Amino acid sequence: MGSQERPFKLWGGRFQKETAGEAASFLNSISFDCRLYREDIQGSIAHARMLGRQGIITPKEAEAIINCLQEILRELEEGKLTFDPAAEDIHSFVEAELVKRIGEVGKKLHTARSRNDQVATSFRLYLRKEIQFLGELVLQLISALMKRAREHKRTIMPGYTHLQRAQPVTFAHHLLAYCEMLRRDYQRLRDCYHRVNVCPLGSGALAGTTFPIDREFVARELGFREVAGNTIDAVSDRDFAVEFIFVASLLMTHLSRLAEELVLWSSSEFNFIEIDDAYTTGSSIMPQKKNPDVAELVRGKTGRVYGHLVALLTVLKGLPLAYNKDLQEDKEAVFDTIDTVKDCLQVFIPLIETLTVKESQMLAAAGEGFTNATDLADYLVKKGVSFRKAHALVGKIVLHCLSQGKRLEELPLEEYRLFSPVFGPDLYDCLDISGCVERRATPGGPAPAAVEQELEKLSDWLEEMRALPWN
Ligand code: ARG
Repeated sequence: MGSQERPFKLWGGRFQKETAGEAASFLNSISFDCRLYREDIQGSIAHARMLGRQGIITPKEAEAIINCLQEILRELEEGKLTFDPAAEDIHSFVEAELVKRIGEVGKKLHTARSRNDQVATSFRLYLRKEIQFLGELVLQLISALMKRAREHKRTIMPGYTHLQRAQPVTFAHHLLAYCEMLRRDYQRLRDCYHRVNVCPLGSGALAGTTFPIDREFVARELGFREVAGNTIDAVSDRDFAVEFIFVASLLMTHLSRLAEELVLWSSSEFNFIEIDDAYTTGSSIMPQKKNPDVAELVRGKTGRVYGHLVALLTVLKGLPLAYNKDLQEDKEAVFDTIDTVKDCLQVFIPLIETLTVKESQMLAAAGEGFTNATDLADYLVKKGVSFRKAHALVGKIVLHCLSQGKRLEELPLEEYRLFSPVFGPDLYDCLDISGCVERRATPGGPAPAAVEQELEKLSDWLEEMRALPWN
Protein backbone atom coordinates (compact mmCIF):
# COMPACT_ATOMS: atom_id res chain seq x y z
CA MET A 1 0.00 0.00 0.00
CA GLY A 2 1.27 3.41 -0.87
CA SER A 3 4.20 1.97 -2.75
CA GLN A 4 2.76 2.19 -6.25
CA GLU A 5 3.22 5.50 -8.14
CA ARG A 6 0.17 7.75 -7.98
CA PRO A 7 -0.38 10.54 -10.53
CA PHE A 8 1.86 13.54 -9.76
CA LYS A 9 0.60 15.53 -6.83
CA LEU A 10 2.26 18.20 -4.67
CA TRP A 11 1.67 16.11 -1.58
CA GLY A 12 0.35 12.63 -0.83
CA GLY A 13 3.29 10.87 0.77
CA ARG A 14 1.65 10.73 4.18
CA PHE A 15 -1.76 9.77 2.82
CA GLN A 16 -3.13 6.27 2.46
CA LYS A 17 -6.24 7.30 0.56
CA GLU A 18 -7.08 9.59 -2.30
CA THR A 19 -9.09 12.73 -1.54
CA ALA A 20 -12.81 12.02 -1.91
CA GLY A 21 -14.23 13.25 -5.19
CA GLU A 22 -16.61 15.73 -3.60
CA ALA A 23 -13.88 17.02 -1.27
CA ALA A 24 -11.46 17.50 -4.16
CA SER A 25 -13.94 19.41 -6.26
CA PHE A 26 -14.84 21.47 -3.20
CA LEU A 27 -11.20 22.29 -2.46
CA ASN A 28 -9.81 22.74 -5.95
CA SER A 29 -9.39 26.25 -7.30
CA ILE A 30 -8.04 25.60 -10.82
CA SER A 31 -11.40 26.58 -12.34
CA PHE A 32 -10.82 30.18 -11.31
CA ASP A 33 -7.13 30.57 -10.40
CA CYS A 34 -6.08 29.33 -13.85
CA ARG A 35 -6.10 33.01 -14.78
CA LEU A 36 -2.91 33.35 -12.71
CA TYR A 37 -0.94 31.11 -15.06
CA ARG A 38 1.34 33.84 -16.41
CA GLU A 39 2.16 35.17 -12.99
CA ASP A 40 2.67 31.69 -11.53
CA ILE A 41 5.19 30.89 -14.25
CA GLN A 42 6.84 34.30 -13.96
CA GLY A 43 7.33 33.74 -10.22
CA SER A 44 8.66 30.22 -10.76
CA ILE A 45 11.16 31.41 -13.35
CA ALA A 46 12.53 34.04 -10.96
CA HIS A 47 12.69 31.45 -8.19
CA ALA A 48 14.49 28.87 -10.37
CA ARG A 49 16.97 31.52 -11.54
CA MET A 50 17.72 32.42 -7.94
CA LEU A 51 18.14 28.75 -6.93
CA GLY A 52 20.66 28.31 -9.74
CA ARG A 53 22.60 31.49 -8.89
CA GLN A 54 22.80 30.52 -5.24
CA GLY A 55 24.00 27.00 -6.06
CA ILE A 56 20.95 25.48 -4.38
CA ILE A 57 20.36 23.66 -7.67
CA THR A 58 22.93 23.57 -10.48
CA PRO A 59 22.83 26.31 -13.13
CA LYS A 60 22.11 23.57 -15.68
CA GLU A 61 19.10 22.38 -13.71
CA ALA A 62 17.87 25.95 -13.39
CA GLU A 63 18.20 26.41 -17.13
CA ALA A 64 16.27 23.22 -17.89
CA ILE A 65 13.48 24.28 -15.54
CA ILE A 66 13.31 27.83 -16.94
CA ASN A 67 13.28 26.66 -20.55
CA CYS A 68 10.51 24.22 -19.85
CA LEU A 69 8.45 26.81 -17.93
CA GLN A 70 8.79 29.16 -20.90
CA GLU A 71 7.63 26.41 -23.21
CA ILE A 72 4.61 25.71 -20.98
CA LEU A 73 3.77 29.43 -20.99
CA ARG A 74 4.04 29.60 -24.77
CA GLU A 75 1.79 26.59 -25.23
CA LEU A 76 -0.79 27.96 -22.82
CA GLU A 77 -0.79 31.29 -24.66
CA GLU A 78 -1.21 29.54 -27.99
CA GLY A 79 -3.94 27.29 -26.67
CA LYS A 80 -1.88 24.17 -27.40
CA LEU A 81 -1.93 23.27 -23.74
CA THR A 82 -5.15 23.42 -21.73
CA PHE A 83 -5.69 23.39 -17.99
CA ASP A 84 -6.37 20.04 -16.39
CA PRO A 85 -9.69 20.51 -14.58
CA ALA A 86 -8.66 17.80 -12.11
CA ALA A 87 -5.56 19.72 -10.98
CA GLU A 88 -5.79 21.19 -7.50
CA ASP A 89 -4.83 24.69 -8.51
CA ILE A 90 -2.77 26.55 -11.09
CA HIS A 91 0.42 26.06 -9.08
CA SER A 92 -0.03 22.26 -8.97
CA PHE A 93 -0.92 22.21 -12.63
CA VAL A 94 2.20 24.03 -13.80
CA GLU A 95 4.50 21.97 -11.59
CA ALA A 96 2.89 18.71 -12.70
CA GLU A 97 3.32 19.76 -16.32
CA LEU A 98 6.98 20.59 -15.67
CA VAL A 99 7.65 17.20 -14.09
CA LYS A 100 5.77 15.45 -16.89
CA ARG A 101 8.11 17.09 -19.38
CA ILE A 102 11.54 17.08 -17.71
CA GLY A 103 11.13 14.48 -15.00
CA GLU A 104 13.24 14.51 -11.83
CA VAL A 105 14.82 17.93 -12.47
CA GLY A 106 11.37 19.48 -12.46
CA LYS A 107 10.81 18.15 -8.97
CA LYS A 108 13.59 20.46 -7.73
CA LEU A 109 11.72 23.68 -8.53
CA HIS A 110 9.84 23.70 -5.25
CA THR A 111 13.06 23.70 -3.18
CA ALA A 112 12.98 26.54 -0.61
CA ARG A 113 9.44 27.51 -1.56
CA SER A 114 5.90 26.78 -0.47
CA ARG A 115 2.62 27.24 -2.24
CA ASN A 116 1.84 29.79 0.46
CA ASP A 117 4.49 32.25 -0.66
CA GLN A 118 3.99 31.17 -4.26
CA VAL A 119 0.27 31.98 -4.36
CA ALA A 120 0.73 35.31 -2.58
CA THR A 121 3.39 36.22 -5.16
CA SER A 122 1.29 35.23 -8.17
CA PHE A 123 -1.71 37.07 -6.78
CA ARG A 124 0.24 40.28 -6.19
CA LEU A 125 1.81 40.15 -9.65
CA TYR A 126 -1.61 39.68 -11.20
CA LEU A 127 -3.24 42.45 -9.21
CA ARG A 128 -0.39 44.79 -10.04
CA LYS A 129 -1.05 44.36 -13.75
CA GLU A 130 -4.82 44.74 -13.40
CA ILE A 131 -4.52 47.87 -11.25
CA GLN A 132 -2.45 49.48 -14.01
CA PHE A 133 -5.09 48.56 -16.57
CA LEU A 134 -7.94 49.88 -14.42
CA GLY A 135 -5.95 53.06 -13.79
CA GLU A 136 -5.66 53.58 -17.53
CA LEU A 137 -9.44 53.15 -17.94
CA VAL A 138 -10.09 55.68 -15.18
CA LEU A 139 -7.88 58.19 -17.00
CA GLN A 140 -9.80 57.51 -20.20
CA LEU A 141 -13.10 58.19 -18.47
CA ILE A 142 -11.73 61.43 -17.00
CA SER A 143 -10.61 62.41 -20.50
CA ALA A 144 -14.04 61.66 -21.95
CA LEU A 145 -15.75 63.76 -19.26
CA MET A 146 -13.28 66.60 -19.85
CA LYS A 147 -14.00 66.56 -23.56
CA ARG A 148 -17.74 66.91 -22.90
CA ALA A 149 -17.01 69.62 -20.32
CA ARG A 150 -15.00 71.60 -22.89
CA GLU A 151 -18.04 71.54 -25.20
CA HIS A 152 -20.38 72.73 -22.44
CA LYS A 153 -18.58 75.49 -20.58
CA ARG A 154 -21.55 77.78 -21.28
CA THR A 155 -24.33 75.22 -21.07
CA ILE A 156 -26.32 76.44 -18.09
CA MET A 157 -28.18 73.94 -15.95
CA PRO A 158 -29.71 74.09 -12.50
CA GLY A 159 -27.45 72.90 -9.70
CA TYR A 160 -29.33 70.97 -7.01
CA THR A 161 -29.29 70.40 -3.32
CA HIS A 162 -31.85 67.96 -1.86
CA LEU A 163 -32.73 67.39 -5.53
CA GLN A 164 -34.37 70.84 -5.46
CA ARG A 165 -33.18 73.53 -7.86
CA ALA A 166 -30.61 75.55 -5.99
CA GLN A 167 -28.27 77.76 -8.03
CA PRO A 168 -27.36 77.82 -11.70
CA VAL A 169 -24.18 76.00 -12.71
CA THR A 170 -22.94 74.71 -16.04
CA PHE A 171 -22.95 71.20 -17.40
CA ALA A 172 -19.15 71.46 -17.59
CA HIS A 173 -18.91 72.32 -13.92
CA HIS A 174 -21.13 69.39 -13.00
CA LEU A 175 -19.05 66.97 -15.09
CA LEU A 176 -15.83 68.24 -13.55
CA ALA A 177 -17.18 67.25 -10.14
CA TYR A 178 -17.01 63.64 -11.38
CA CYS A 179 -13.52 64.24 -12.72
CA GLU A 180 -12.44 65.15 -9.19
CA MET A 181 -13.95 61.95 -7.75
CA LEU A 182 -12.26 59.87 -10.42
CA ARG A 183 -8.98 61.65 -9.86
CA ARG A 184 -9.08 60.57 -6.23
CA ASP A 185 -9.95 57.03 -7.33
CA TYR A 186 -6.92 57.01 -9.57
CA GLN A 187 -4.67 58.28 -6.77
CA ARG A 188 -6.05 55.58 -4.49
CA LEU A 189 -5.27 52.94 -7.14
CA ARG A 190 -1.69 54.21 -7.27
CA ASP A 191 -1.44 54.23 -3.51
CA CYS A 192 -2.86 50.73 -3.20
CA TYR A 193 -0.47 49.56 -5.91
CA HIS A 194 2.40 50.64 -3.69
CA ARG A 195 1.40 48.13 -1.02
CA VAL A 196 0.56 45.40 -3.54
CA ASN A 197 4.05 45.78 -4.96
CA VAL A 198 5.87 43.86 -2.21
CA CYS A 199 7.48 40.45 -2.64
CA PRO A 200 6.36 37.57 -0.39
CA LEU A 201 8.43 34.91 -2.21
CA GLY A 202 11.09 33.43 0.04
CA SER A 203 8.77 33.30 3.04
CA GLY A 204 8.24 29.60 2.48
CA ALA A 205 5.27 28.05 4.28
CA LEU A 206 5.58 30.67 7.02
CA ALA A 207 9.04 30.42 8.56
CA GLY A 208 11.39 31.10 5.69
CA THR A 209 13.87 28.42 4.70
CA THR A 210 17.16 26.82 5.73
CA PHE A 211 18.54 27.37 2.21
CA PRO A 212 20.70 30.41 1.41
CA ILE A 213 18.13 32.12 -0.81
CA ASP A 214 18.48 35.64 -2.22
CA ARG A 215 15.17 37.39 -1.68
CA GLU A 216 16.37 40.75 -2.98
CA PHE A 217 17.31 39.17 -6.29
CA VAL A 218 13.88 37.55 -6.67
CA ALA A 219 12.11 40.81 -5.79
CA ARG A 220 14.19 42.68 -8.36
CA GLU A 221 13.56 40.05 -11.03
CA LEU A 222 9.83 40.40 -10.50
CA GLY A 223 9.89 44.20 -10.36
CA PHE A 224 8.76 44.34 -6.74
CA ARG A 225 9.59 47.45 -4.77
CA GLU A 226 10.73 45.57 -1.70
CA VAL A 227 10.87 42.24 0.08
CA ALA A 228 8.07 41.58 2.58
CA GLY A 229 9.33 42.27 6.09
CA ASN A 230 8.02 39.25 8.00
CA THR A 231 7.58 35.74 6.63
CA ILE A 232 4.49 34.97 8.73
CA ASP A 233 2.78 38.19 7.65
CA ALA A 234 3.83 37.72 4.03
CA VAL A 235 1.89 34.45 3.62
CA SER A 236 -1.17 35.47 5.61
CA ASP A 237 -1.54 39.10 4.55
CA ARG A 238 -4.41 39.92 2.21
CA ASP A 239 -4.76 43.55 3.29
CA PHE A 240 -3.68 44.61 -0.19
CA ALA A 241 -6.61 42.68 -1.67
CA VAL A 242 -9.10 44.23 0.76
CA GLU A 243 -7.66 47.63 0.03
CA PHE A 244 -8.00 47.07 -3.68
CA ILE A 245 -11.64 46.05 -3.36
CA PHE A 246 -12.28 49.11 -1.22
CA VAL A 247 -10.73 51.38 -3.84
CA ALA A 248 -12.86 49.61 -6.45
CA SER A 249 -15.96 50.00 -4.26
CA LEU A 250 -15.52 53.72 -3.99
CA LEU A 251 -14.89 53.98 -7.72
CA MET A 252 -18.13 52.06 -8.26
CA THR A 253 -19.89 54.46 -5.88
CA HIS A 254 -18.85 57.31 -8.14
CA LEU A 255 -19.88 55.52 -11.32
CA SER A 256 -23.17 54.67 -9.66
CA ARG A 257 -23.88 58.27 -8.68
CA LEU A 258 -23.20 59.40 -12.23
CA ALA A 259 -25.30 56.50 -13.54
CA GLU A 260 -28.16 57.61 -11.32
CA GLU A 261 -27.94 61.16 -12.62
CA LEU A 262 -27.95 59.91 -16.20
CA VAL A 263 -31.08 57.89 -15.43
CA LEU A 264 -32.76 60.93 -13.92
CA TRP A 265 -31.64 63.33 -16.62
CA SER A 266 -32.83 61.07 -19.42
CA SER A 267 -36.35 60.84 -17.93
CA SER A 268 -39.12 63.00 -19.43
CA GLU A 269 -39.33 64.73 -16.05
CA PHE A 270 -35.82 66.16 -16.43
CA ASN A 271 -35.27 65.76 -20.17
CA PHE A 272 -31.68 67.12 -19.95
CA ILE A 273 -29.92 64.46 -22.00
CA GLU A 274 -30.53 61.65 -24.40
CA ILE A 275 -28.44 58.51 -24.14
CA ASP A 276 -27.44 57.18 -27.54
CA ASP A 277 -29.54 54.32 -28.92
CA ALA A 278 -26.43 52.16 -28.87
CA TYR A 279 -26.35 52.34 -25.07
CA THR A 280 -30.06 51.93 -24.31
CA THR A 281 -32.67 49.21 -24.77
CA GLY A 282 -36.38 48.99 -25.51
CA SER A 283 -39.33 47.33 -23.85
CA SER A 284 -40.89 44.03 -24.92
CA ILE A 285 -44.39 45.45 -24.52
CA MET A 286 -44.27 49.27 -24.62
CA PRO A 287 -43.14 50.32 -28.08
CA GLN A 288 -42.35 53.90 -27.06
CA LYS A 289 -39.82 52.97 -24.36
CA LYS A 290 -36.12 53.75 -24.44
CA ASN A 291 -34.56 52.59 -21.23
CA PRO A 292 -31.21 53.63 -19.71
CA ASP A 293 -30.29 50.00 -18.94
CA VAL A 294 -26.53 50.46 -19.18
CA ALA A 295 -26.54 53.18 -16.55
CA GLU A 296 -28.93 51.18 -14.40
CA LEU A 297 -26.77 48.06 -14.56
CA VAL A 298 -23.64 50.02 -13.60
CA ARG A 299 -25.61 51.28 -10.61
CA GLY A 300 -26.77 47.74 -9.88
CA LYS A 301 -23.35 46.11 -10.16
CA THR A 302 -22.00 48.41 -7.48
CA GLY A 303 -23.68 46.17 -4.91
CA ARG A 304 -21.72 43.07 -5.81
CA VAL A 305 -18.40 44.89 -5.49
CA TYR A 306 -19.40 46.09 -2.00
CA GLY A 307 -20.35 42.47 -1.31
CA HIS A 308 -16.85 41.27 -2.17
CA LEU A 309 -15.36 43.86 0.18
CA VAL A 310 -17.44 42.68 3.11
CA ALA A 311 -16.87 39.02 2.17
CA LEU A 312 -13.08 39.32 2.19
CA LEU A 313 -12.98 41.40 5.37
CA THR A 314 -15.08 38.69 6.98
CA VAL A 315 -12.76 35.92 5.73
CA LEU A 316 -9.81 37.64 7.39
CA LYS A 317 -11.50 38.49 10.64
CA GLY A 318 -10.66 35.84 13.22
CA LEU A 319 -8.16 33.96 11.00
CA PRO A 320 -5.21 32.79 13.04
CA LEU A 321 -1.78 33.25 11.50
CA ALA A 322 -0.43 32.18 9.10
CA TYR A 323 -1.88 30.57 5.94
CA ASN A 324 -5.33 29.00 6.17
CA LYS A 325 -7.32 27.58 3.29
CA ASP A 326 -9.93 30.28 3.90
CA LEU A 327 -7.53 32.61 2.10
CA GLN A 328 -8.29 30.89 -1.18
CA GLU A 329 -11.56 32.85 -1.07
CA ASP A 330 -9.59 36.00 -1.91
CA LYS A 331 -9.37 35.06 -5.60
CA GLU A 332 -12.98 35.10 -6.72
CA ALA A 333 -13.66 38.27 -4.73
CA VAL A 334 -10.78 40.11 -6.39
CA PHE A 335 -11.28 38.59 -9.86
CA ASP A 336 -14.97 39.44 -9.98
CA THR A 337 -14.23 42.94 -8.69
CA ILE A 338 -11.70 43.46 -11.47
CA ASP A 339 -14.07 42.09 -14.14
CA THR A 340 -17.02 44.14 -12.91
CA VAL A 341 -15.17 47.45 -12.67
CA LYS A 342 -13.52 46.88 -16.03
CA ASP A 343 -16.87 46.12 -17.72
CA CYS A 344 -18.50 49.16 -16.15
CA LEU A 345 -15.71 51.54 -17.15
CA GLN A 346 -15.48 50.15 -20.66
CA VAL A 347 -19.17 50.70 -21.33
CA PHE A 348 -19.37 54.02 -19.51
CA ILE A 349 -16.69 55.75 -21.55
CA PRO A 350 -18.45 55.50 -24.94
CA LEU A 351 -21.80 56.20 -23.31
CA ILE A 352 -20.45 59.54 -22.08
CA GLU A 353 -18.80 60.26 -25.42
CA THR A 354 -22.09 59.79 -27.31
CA LEU A 355 -24.53 61.54 -24.94
CA THR A 356 -26.78 64.18 -26.49
CA VAL A 357 -27.03 67.23 -24.26
CA LYS A 358 -30.29 69.19 -24.43
CA GLU A 359 -28.94 72.65 -23.78
CA SER A 360 -32.20 74.58 -24.09
CA GLN A 361 -34.00 72.24 -21.69
CA MET A 362 -31.23 72.65 -19.15
CA LEU A 363 -31.31 76.43 -19.52
CA ALA A 364 -35.11 76.52 -19.22
CA ALA A 365 -34.94 74.46 -16.02
CA ALA A 366 -32.27 76.76 -14.61
CA GLY A 367 -34.61 79.73 -15.22
CA GLU A 368 -37.34 78.12 -13.11
CA GLY A 369 -37.29 77.58 -9.38
CA PHE A 370 -35.77 80.92 -8.32
CA THR A 371 -32.20 79.72 -8.80
CA ASN A 372 -31.18 83.41 -8.87
CA ALA A 373 -32.61 84.16 -5.42
CA THR A 374 -29.17 83.99 -3.74
CA ASP A 375 -27.93 86.55 -6.25
CA LEU A 376 -30.76 88.89 -5.27
CA ALA A 377 -29.81 88.53 -1.61
CA ASP A 378 -26.15 89.20 -2.55
CA TYR A 379 -27.36 92.36 -4.39
CA LEU A 380 -28.89 93.66 -1.17
CA VAL A 381 -25.73 92.81 0.76
CA LYS A 382 -23.68 94.80 -1.70
CA LYS A 383 -26.05 97.73 -0.95
CA GLY A 384 -25.27 97.45 2.75
CA VAL A 385 -28.01 95.12 4.04
CA SER A 386 -26.77 92.30 6.32
CA PHE A 387 -26.93 88.86 4.72
CA ARG A 388 -29.42 87.46 7.25
CA LYS A 389 -31.81 90.40 6.64
CA ALA A 390 -31.37 90.13 2.89
CA HIS A 391 -32.09 86.38 3.06
CA ALA A 392 -35.36 86.95 4.94
CA LEU A 393 -36.40 89.75 2.60
CA VAL A 394 -35.80 87.75 -0.56
CA GLY A 395 -37.62 84.81 1.02
CA LYS A 396 -40.68 87.03 1.36
CA ILE A 397 -40.31 88.26 -2.22
CA VAL A 398 -40.13 84.64 -3.46
CA LEU A 399 -43.31 83.86 -1.57
CA HIS A 400 -44.97 86.89 -3.16
CA CYS A 401 -43.80 85.83 -6.63
CA LEU A 402 -45.14 82.30 -6.07
CA SER A 403 -48.58 83.71 -5.25
CA GLN A 404 -48.44 85.87 -8.39
CA GLY A 405 -47.10 83.08 -10.62
CA LYS A 406 -44.12 85.30 -11.50
CA ARG A 407 -40.36 84.93 -11.65
CA LEU A 408 -38.10 87.33 -9.77
CA GLU A 409 -37.18 89.11 -13.00
CA GLU A 410 -40.87 89.61 -13.85
CA LEU A 411 -41.71 91.56 -10.70
CA PRO A 412 -41.85 95.35 -11.38
CA LEU A 413 -39.53 97.71 -9.50
CA GLU A 414 -42.46 99.40 -7.63
CA GLU A 415 -43.32 96.08 -6.06
CA TYR A 416 -39.69 95.47 -5.09
CA ARG A 417 -39.65 98.87 -3.44
CA LEU A 418 -42.60 97.86 -1.24
CA PHE A 419 -40.23 95.31 0.29
CA SER A 420 -37.20 97.60 0.59
CA PRO A 421 -36.26 101.11 -0.58
CA VAL A 422 -32.75 99.80 -1.25
CA PHE A 423 -33.89 98.20 -4.52
CA GLY A 424 -32.98 100.18 -7.62
CA PRO A 425 -33.38 99.56 -11.37
CA ASP A 426 -29.97 97.82 -11.40
CA LEU A 427 -31.46 94.87 -9.47
CA TYR A 428 -32.46 93.22 -12.75
CA ASP A 429 -28.81 92.94 -13.79
CA CYS A 430 -28.13 90.48 -10.98
CA LEU A 431 -31.05 88.25 -11.94
CA ASP A 432 -29.87 87.25 -15.40
CA ILE A 433 -29.06 83.52 -15.18
CA SER A 434 -25.96 83.55 -17.33
CA GLY A 435 -24.67 86.50 -15.29
CA CYS A 436 -25.28 84.47 -12.12
CA VAL A 437 -22.95 81.79 -13.50
CA GLU A 438 -20.45 84.25 -14.94
CA ARG A 439 -20.02 86.05 -11.62
CA ARG A 440 -19.33 82.82 -9.71
CA ALA A 441 -15.66 82.99 -10.56
CA THR A 442 -14.57 81.29 -7.33
CA PRO A 443 -11.64 78.97 -8.09
CA GLY A 444 -13.25 75.58 -8.76
CA GLY A 445 -16.59 77.31 -9.39
CA PRO A 446 -18.99 77.34 -12.36
CA ALA A 447 -17.88 80.51 -14.20
CA PRO A 448 -16.56 79.57 -17.66
CA ALA A 449 -13.20 81.17 -16.78
CA ALA A 450 -12.93 79.07 -13.59
CA VAL A 451 -13.93 75.92 -15.46
CA GLU A 452 -11.32 76.73 -18.08
CA GLN A 453 -8.66 76.88 -15.37
CA GLU A 454 -9.85 73.62 -13.84
CA LEU A 455 -9.68 71.96 -17.24
CA GLU A 456 -6.14 73.17 -17.72
CA LYS A 457 -5.06 71.85 -14.33
CA LEU A 458 -6.72 68.52 -15.06
CA SER A 459 -5.00 68.26 -18.45
CA ASP A 460 -1.62 68.85 -16.84
CA TRP A 461 -2.39 66.25 -14.20
CA LEU A 462 -3.47 63.71 -16.84
CA GLU A 463 -0.26 64.23 -18.73
CA GLU A 464 1.77 63.86 -15.56
CA MET A 465 0.01 60.62 -14.58
CA ARG A 466 0.38 59.12 -18.04
CA ALA A 467 4.14 59.73 -17.87
CA LEU A 468 4.56 58.53 -14.27
CA PRO A 469 6.00 55.00 -14.07
CA TRP A 470 4.17 52.54 -11.83
CA ASN A 471 7.23 50.82 -10.48
N1 ARG B 1 -4.99 27.39 -4.07
C1 ARG B 1 -4.43 27.86 -2.84
C2 ARG B 1 -4.92 29.30 -2.58
O1 ARG B 1 -5.36 29.88 -3.50
C3 ARG B 1 -2.95 27.87 -2.94
C4 ARG B 1 -2.23 27.80 -1.64
C5 ARG B 1 -2.35 26.47 -1.07
N2 ARG B 1 -1.58 26.31 0.09
C6 ARG B 1 -1.86 25.36 1.00
N3 ARG B 1 -1.10 25.31 2.02
N4 ARG B 1 -2.86 24.58 0.83
O2 ARG B 1 -4.89 29.80 -1.49
